[in-house]
Amino acid sequence: MKRYRESIVMYDLVRLREEFPVLSRCVYLDSASTSQTPRRAVEAMCTYFYEYAANHGRGAHHLARRTTEEYEKVRAQLAGFLEASPEQIVFSKNTTESVNMVARGFRWKRGDHVITTMLEHHANLLPWMMLRDKGVRVTVVPHENGYINPVTVAEAITPRTRLVAITHMPNVLGTVQPVEEIGKMAHERGVPILVDGAQSVGHLPVDVTHIDYLAIPGHKGLLGPQGTGALYMKDPDSLECCLYGGGMVEHVSLTEVKLLPPPAKFEPGTPNIPGVIGLGPAIGLVEELGVDLIHRHEKKLGTRMCRGLSGIAGVSVYSPEGTGVVSFGVENREPNGFARALDDLDGICVRSGMHCAEPLTSSFDCRGTIRASVGCYTTAEEVDRLIAGVQALTGDRS
Ligand code: ALA
Repeated sequence: MKRYRESIVMYDLVRLREEFPVLSRCVYLDSASTSQTPRRAVEAMCTYFYEYAANHGRGAHHLARRTTEEYEKVRAQLAGFLEASPEQIVFSKNTTESVNMVARGFRWKRGDHVITTMLEHHANLLPWMMLRDKGVRVTVVPHENGYINPVTVAEAITPRTRLVAITHMPNVLGTVQPVEEIGKMAHERGVPILVDGAQSVGHLPVDVTHIDYLAIPGHKGLLGPQGTGALYMKDPDSLECCLYGGGMVEHVSLTEVKLLPPPAKFEPGTPNIPGVIGLGPAIGLVEELGVDLIHRHEKKLGTRMCRGLSGIAGVSVYSPEGTGVVSFGVENREPNGFARALDDLDGICVRSGMHCAEPLTSSFDCRGTIRASVGCYTTAEEVDRLIAGVQALTGDRS
């Protein structure tokens, strides 16, 4: 308890953790993969199922009206969180789907060019690589010790460049990228920018002023349920929709289809209604804590983790700075086996392997990494338990 108090920088961590019962059962250091979900989100989903479950945007009865109202409230809330407007927010099932909506929503021509980076996870790499089949040229710019230099991106831009697609915080290294500077520079050259916010939204302030498309996971920094996500679009008319079906049309005959305006035209079919309804109170919690304060808290924990792990013999820390995502390797130990041993030793849950970012991870000349990642609810004591666990398993006695 005392150590928890020491780590209370700005918000009441003990009280916050009461929202997440699972945290008392393990040392959860895998929030970059998915966050734990607060009680208030689970309760909102139960209320939906028990009191008013119906479809969204379909039906005049009172359950359908309430469902539509609650769902749209969350869209407005997420828009407010980003200082955007609701028409600019399309719900998706995850970051991957959001990036794919852009990759498939552009009207590509042969010879068009996309720039992405070596820091990407597959969600922001494969959708662009697949465009090569359509004659689109893809440049993958290198990183410099975990950072993308805006000058390198500027030098890669050609008259045929249609998009720069870059992560805000790579899921392997946790380094915060200068997306604002890159966005400004790209805009000066008339090129839009997509930012993959998988590890940043809810973890650090994100300003969409110089971002054209922001891929947002609902289940990571925003603490929502899995299967929720969104795409922010500065200009919703810049994209074609890539799925067709019910709920997106104003009028259909056998010869003509008139689509509804955005965001409805991007959301055909029954969406993840309970998930979105659970996302609302989860965002509310993030807003209550304050993203600035969450960032400060997580940075402090990341620094502690980097320092502690770096001091252990045989451990190589790959993440160059202390944000909340830290990848490391242990000499002569296979990452998955080591992660399993941490769990067996003290219930420590970390991710291991390639992290769906194989080109980057394999560049460290290893068979994957062990990755520990924190959330707004993580304590300094949990970080210390990880460090102690790594020490114990490596036989380090320092
Ligand atoms: N992208 C998620 C991760 O980094 C799944 O673990």
